[in-house]
Amino acid sequence: DDLERLADDIRRADTVVALTGAGISAPSGVPTFRGDDGVWDRFDEGQFAYGRFQRDPAGFWDDRVDLQRELFGDDPDPNAAHEALAAMGRAGALEAICTQNTDGLHGVAADTVTAEAAEPATATTTILELHGNAQRVRCQDCGSRRDSEPILERAAAGDLPPTCDCGGVFKPDVVLFGEQLPGAAIQRARSLARESDVFLAIGSSLSVQPAASLPRQAAETGATVGIVNLDSTPCDSLADIVYREDVTTVLPRLRELVAE
Ligand code: OAD
Repeated sequence: DDLERLADDIRRADTVVALTGAGISAPSGVPTFRGDDGVWDRFDEGQFAYGRFQRDPAGFWDDRVDLQRELFGDDPDPNAAHEALAAMGRAGALEAICTQNTDGLHGVAADTVTAEAAEPATATTTILELHGNAQRVRCQDCGSRRDSEPILERAAAGDLPPTCDCGGVFKPDVVLFGEQLPGAAIQRARSLARESDVFLAIGSSLSVQPAASLPRQAAETGATVGIVNLDSTPCDSLADIVYREDVTTVLPRLRELVAE
């Protein structure tokens, strides 16, 4: 069937690249942005705005405590889809994961698969976090990074806004609206998309640039493009294969077929 053909293409490919979005973490309990009960239903967009952070960092952090608890409150674990990608990566079948997610779950899955593996890895997968990582904060003055949990605790206890030893204000290490995307990571993602022989877009509405243009770049340079997403996307018409199925159904099967 189609999935077997995709697995064949992956086995034959030199470069396989995945782009992921909120849908891959939905089975882990992290809400998506769009759709019923999504982030945009629950929160004001201002809470993701760099302008708000600059004008009122104390108020921003006060709100951020609730927001971050609601997004990542139950300390989400990677699910079978993250694990399938991590296992494909270890087996040398996945060059890179470009993710729009800030939950850090691809990194956790890679660490878990490595810890459980009997054999040393034959390959590693580059993880490009295009929108940053909410499990970290970054000082706006000296640039140093910390785990977000103790900083959130300080903010929850009224230390607003939380500041670094150097006196600078911490900001969640994510890309807020109105902020520059990490240029080097975006450039790298673009060249990976162009280099790829197989490009998989997984759990993303593909509605936010620049990530949304990666499947087209991949298609234009000859990649086989596969999409796994419950809802239709603007890139479905350029894809070779579209699965409107749950990520935790498709990816573990794909991983098994690739390993055969
Ligand atoms: P969206 O919320 O726009 O889209 C998530 C997609 O996942 C939807 O199209 C769902 O159909 C699909 N989906 C949900 N659960 C699924 C499942 N179990 N299996 C398969 N598909 C599933 O999320 P993104 O595309 O990631 O940016 O959104 C992109 C960006 O929009 C975010 O990174 C965020 C936001 O603006 C920033 O915060 C900078």
